[in-house]
Amino acid sequence: MKRVFSGVKPTGHLTLGNYLGALRQWAEVDQHRADSLFCVVDLHALTVEHDPARVRRLSRQAATLLLAAGLDPRLCTVFVQSHVDEHARLSYLLECVATDGEMRRMIQYKEKAARERERGGSVRLSLLTYPVLMAADILAYATDEVPVGDDQAQHVELARDLAMRFNQRYGHTFVVPKATLPAVAARVMNLQEPGSKMGKSDDFGPGIVYLLDEPDVVRKKVMRAVTDSGREVVYDRAGRPGVANLLEILAACTGGDPEALSAAYTSYGDLKKDTADAVVEVLRPLRARHQELCADPGYVERVLRDGAEKARAMARPVVDDAYRAIGLLPPL
Ligand code: TYM
Repeated sequence: MKRVFSGVKPTGHLTLGNYLGALRQWAEVDQHRADSLFCVVDLHALTVEHDPARVRRLSRQAATLLLAAGLDPRLCTVFVQSHVDEHARLSYLLECVATDGEMRRMIQYKEKAARERERGGSVRLSLLTYPVLMAADILAYATDEVPVGDDQAQHVELARDLAMRFNQRYGHTFVVPKATLPAVAARVMNLQEPGSKMGKSDDFGPGIVYLLDEPDVVRKKVMRAVTDSGREVVYDRAGRPGVANLLEILAACTGGDPEALSAAYTSYGDLKKDTADAVVEVLRPLRARHQELCADPGYVERVLRDGAEKARAMARPVVDDAYRAIGLLPPL
């Protein structure tokens, strides 16, 4: 059976982009076909300025939302990254395989570092090494496939490179993973800024649909989405990014195809209305389940405790092998 690993970072409330680009695939497809692990990657949330209490709160919320989205602990392993020491242990070894230049070329590093500097802040060293920790997350579990949205593809590519380099230098140790992207909605764009990704920690709040937004808030955000001055509904990502984004969201929510759907609409208003309805319907069961889970925090805690135990047992032998292979003396 294939091994699947993926994760979500608790730096903000989860969005429709996280759901359509990743979570839904995990719940509907991956957990049923593979031996899969899904992780709240809290160590990654410390790479930019953070409030400790907020990270704790968002980590708990993200774990609850993963379960609300349909992850079933009888089918997959759900856990929190910092509960399994192997991630940090392996990350250091991979830092000894990765290069400084390769880190500085990462698109997300360049963007986030520039943003931190613009705000007058300093850039944490961990932001630079972030993709190495992410590679450790993946490689520690002998992962075959990493289901992610389009923005993480470069990071998964780096994990592949590091796995191959390590194997070549120190002997076969790691499975070489690959990214799997959803067919539609691999990059959901901000409704107000269709040139930018809908990101959970962004500043364009009115253009972000959060999974826990009330239905009327979701409707308002979709109805106010920026389109363009044209009138025809055509699917053209480069020329009409706002309309293309709505078509992709609608297609992802209804199981259709964005190009085919465009033919069914003659006005932006109808497209927005149907998209709003479709998003509200997709989020309805998730919101209901989230409410039930919030009433039973003991259940979520048990899932995370059992998940960490299972994850530790899987990662330990892989990371121990890497320690031996790279030349460290086994503990006496
Ligand atoms: P994060 O927390 O930003 O996002 C979680 C998942 O959601 C996807 N995603 C999107 N997909 C489509 N459209 C969007 N607008 C959108 N926004 C986010 C992301 O691609 C991702 O799949 N570095 C990772 C977390 C991570 C990880 C890992 C992932 C850490 N270690 C190991 C996989 C394997 C991140 O920041 O994701």
